[in-house]
Amino acid sequence: MEFLGAHLAFRSRWQKTDEKLCRHSMSFILHQALRNDFFESYLYLLEREPLVKLYALTSQVIDGEIQFYARSRNFYKDVPATEEGMMGDFLELSDTDIASSRQFLRKFIGGPGKACTGYALDCGSGIGRVSKNVLLPIFDNIELVDMMEPFLEEAQNYLEEGVDKVEALYCYNLQEFTPVMKKYDVIWMQWVSGYLTDKDFLEFLRRCKSGLRQNGVIILKDNVARDGCRLDPIDNCLIRDIFILRSIIYKAGFTILSEQKQDGFPETLTPIWMIAMQ
Ligand SMILES: C[S@@+](CC[C@H](N)C(=O)[O-])C[C@H]1O[C@@H](n2cnc3c(N)ncnc32)[C@H](O)[C@@H]1O
Repeated sequence: MEFLGAHLAFRSRWQKTDEKLCRHSMSFILHQALRNDFFESYLYLLEREPLVKLYALTSQVIDGEIQFYARSRNFYKDVPATEEGMMGDFLELSDTDIASSRQFLRKFIGGPGKACTGYALDCGSGIGRVSKNVLLPIFDNIELVDMMEPFLEEAQNYLEEGVDKVEALYCYNLQEFTPVMKKYDVIWMQWVSGYLTDKDFLEFLRRCKSGLRQNGVIILKDNVARDGCRLDPIDNCLIRDIFILRSIIYKAGFTILSEQKQDGFPETLTPIWMIAMQ
């Protein structure tokens, strides 16, 4: 089934050539031969390299990387720079989310062998909901990165007096962002990994790894599909299952320290998991 997915993922790319080339031409015959060789090597790779399989699954779902990124940017253009906007109209769940995040974070900071409380980086921060409620009470300095300028502008009001601890606001796409080397004790990524392709997410995780100080941890909090990988039709984000997420995390060179499912959210919603890695 996944192999079929791989073929489908590339079908649209081959289709145009099939239609344009004369069926009896040498080019068409060459094209067919190339295609067959391509798939043979591709299927061979699929069996050996699980990540190739992952890429194929995602490409099938997102239908073109450029459009994928353009769609989420378009979506966020109309999202208000408010807590409601950040919570996708589930504002009533914000307190529960924050309480669990604080509790989870505490396991990895302070004390021997644990992360210090110097610097935290909030990735896909939006207006800084996580920064304000989870990171600011603990860390001496925080930095925020988000692709939407209006959210970062609003962060400067929303964080109130906490803004004094903000060392930097980076307006960047995460797929193009490189955290400062060996700076951060905690890098938090909440509800943003699904806006990155597998490849970009993996590479971003690798760059974040280089951004960690000794005993630093990355905490990923996101929606997790019950099976496979699907696209949220509303905000165009990928929802990966836990096996896909773990594969990407391991491929990026991390060890998973802990995984915890978010409690207290309605059963009808997609499950949310927190994953700490080092
Ligand atoms: C659902 S909001 C979550 C905001 C915040 N993490 C929170 O939990 O309140 C998703 C955020 O990810 C940002 N985002 C989406 N795709 C991004 C990308 N490729 N690079 C950087 N930020 C991105 C959006 O602008 C938005 O602020």
